[in-house]
Parts: sequence; structure tokens; C-alpha cells
Amino acid sequence: MTAPAIESPPDLSHLVNLGVRTATSSVIRDLLRLVDRPGMLSLAGGLPAPELLPVDRVGAAVAGQLAAHGPRALQYAPTEGVPELRALVAADHGDHVDHPARVDDVIVTTGSQQALDLLARALLGPGATVVVEAPGYLGAIQAFRLSGATMVAVAGDADGLRTDVLADRLAAGMRPALVYVVPNFGNPSGATLSLARRHHLADLADRYRFVVVEDDPYGALRFRGDALPRLATMTPHAVTLGTASKVVAPGLRVGWVVAPAWLTPALVRLKQVADLHTSTLDQLVVADLLSDAPFMAGQLDRLRASYRPRADALVDAVRAMPGAPLAVAGPAGGMFCWATLRAPRATHDLLPAALDAGVAFVPGSAFHLDDSGDASMRLCFTTLSVDQIGDAVERLATVL
Ligand SMILES: Cc1ncc(COP(=O)(O)O)c(C=O)c1O
Repeated sequence: MTAPAIESPPDLSHLVNLGVRTATSSVIRDLLRLVDRPGMLSLAGGLPAPELLPVDRVGAAVAGQLAAHGPRALQYAPTEGVPELRALVAADHGDHVDHPARVDDVIVTTGSQQALDLLARALLGPGATVVVEAPGYLGAIQAFRLSGATMVAVAGDADGLRTDVLADRLAAGMRPALVYVVPNFGNPSGATLSLARRHHLADLADRYRFVVVEDDPYGALRFRGDALPRLATMTPHAVTLGTASKVVAPGLRVGWVVAPAWLTPALVRLKQVADLHTSTLDQLVVADLLSDAPFMAGQLDRLRASYRPRADALVDAVRAMPGAPLAVAGPAGGMFCWATLRAPRATHDLLPAALDAGVAFVPGSAFHLDDSGDASMRLCFTTLSVDQIGDAVERLATVL
């Protein structure tokens, strides 16, 4: 007996909201499906080193928080976040900005990615303008694009966003609602916004009255040099995003936003619609870990001590490639470096051969609003060992 033909259900995809239908999916997520091939050495991901995820400490925190709080740890919680975590974030923010942040200015979010979505919904829409650095963080680009706002790319270089270029655009009449930067060890650039440019950007925000979003998942992962002050120390128009993802664990999905008092009510209303609140238990676990100063100091030491030699190994190996086909800057922290072909070619076209050779990277075009950036690639150094990084770069050399 032949099996009855299974009819595929009718396609009603025309019902999907037009803006969503035409939005591009994350190139990186699509790519991550391919890098699961056995033997692949991936420089493409953006994940923390798995061996440094604090499995035992999180386990102890889950048990401890359930024991300490009982049903409260599993109950609905305020949209703004649990008071324990908001207080910790406010105190830490105060350490950076020389005055205590108000607990009311802190909203816990489901990862900092949610904060980007909430900010886009609150501040952007058709008719509004948003400025992103080129290259820029893909998750922010996606959130801003879905809002329907006009997106303007301003180039970045080794010192971060070119604030001189931004100033020219502003002088020519551009009036953004929001300017987005990753000030420390940018994703994908690895670049850090210089002190002079931080002051310049803050002055521009004061003068032209836009919100400057400083998204800072990587600042604590500095393995060289001294930290630079936050934009929030320089202008009242800064919104600071933080996350537990890169210093504790991304799977907990706990981030936060510190925003001016005029903006937080809008963000809270939007978050209420999105998910009521971030997981109560996950927030309590993160608060437990962040308030354990010896644990956090050790955790940050382990991350930095692991990432620094990996970053150095990657940069050294890339610079030692036969013919030195790639120019690369050595990052002072974070998880990424940005490499550019000296003889311009589309790295996107090289990717299939690279995957066949067993190495993955993210083509630079993924981080741009247009087709530029094609000669570059993002390389992540956190998940491979120093030896594997050497092998990965050898494989890369065979396809360049
Ligand atoms: C610059 C930047 N912002 C935000 C995020 C989102 O992080 P999460 O939602 O895990 O806090 C990432 C993740 O890679 C990132 O690189």
C-alpha cells in the first residue's frame, strides 16, 4: 500500500506584516547553522567560551535563591525588574558616573537585545532618523530597521565612530532621534571609542538634542589598557545598556537599561506588552552572582586571562599569513577583531571555500546597511583554543 500523499498546508505568508516579511534574517544565525559541521573551526560565532560559563555557581545560585525566596522566585514580578538587581545595577552605574544612579532609572530587560527593541519602539518609527556606526552591531540594525526609521550609517575607524563625520551630517541638517554606539571593543569592529570622540559625541548630543545609546556588553572584558569614562558621565542624554551575557551567561537572558527619567515610563509600558517582565528566577540568580564580589572578580579574571592569549594568537597568526593578505587591528578587550583584505575582494564570495576548508568567519557586508564592508570579515577569538586558532588561520590562508 502506498502512503497517502501529505498535502502541505496552504501558504498564508502574505498575512505576515509587510515590514517583517521584508526584514532580512540575521546572516549570523543562518551561518551558525552551517558551522555545526563536524571538524569546523569557527571564528564566526559570538559566544562566550563555554568552559567559562559558571555552571556550578549558577546551580548553587538557583538552589540558594529558591531556598531563600520560596514561591517569590517563581512568581510574577514587577515589569521594571526585581529590586535586588535594579539596586545592584544602579550602584554599579553610580561607580562609573560619579553620582548614584536612581534605582528608578534602571529597567531589567531580557538581554540587552530587548533594550534595543524597546528603544526602537519608543524613539523610532517612520519619519525618525537613527545613526549607526559602519560596521555596526547587526542586532541593533535589525531592531532599528523594523521600526521603519531612516537609517544613516556613519563610518567608524580604529577610534570608533567618526564623530567629525557625524558633526558634518548634523551641520548639514540631519536630526536623528538616536545615535547608537558600542563604545568598548565594538561588535564587529573590536574598536573602542576614544576619549576625545566620547566628549565630542556627548557635546553633539547636548547641542542637537538626540539620545545617544551606549551599548556596553564588552567593557568589563578589557585585557589591556585603562577603561574610558562612560558617555553617561558626559551628557544627560545618554542611555546605557548592560548585560550579564558576556560576563556571566547569555542563556540567562538578563540585561538592563539605565535611562533618563523622561524615557523609562515609555520603556516600561513597552516591556509590559512584550513579556510582562524578565524571568524572576534568572534575575535573582544574576543578582546573586553580581553581588558576590569575590566570585565576579575571579570570573572576570578567568575571562580576561583566557581571551587575551586567544586574541593575541589570532592577531599574530593573521599577521604571519603568507603574503599578509589581511590587515588586522589588535583589540584591547572584548571578543572580536576585524580583518580587511589588502587586495579588495568580497569576503562573502570566499566563505563557501572557507567552510569547505573547515573554517568559518562572518563576512563584513553583514554589518553594513549597504553593500560596503565587503572586503572585511569579523573574527571571534573566544571559543577556540590558542592551538585551534592557529589551525583555523592556516585553513583561512588556503582560501585567501
Ligand atoms: C553590541 C551588542 N549588543 C547587544 C547584544 C545582545 O546581547 P544580550 O541580548 O545577550 O544581552 C550583543 C550580543 O552579541 C552585542 O554584541
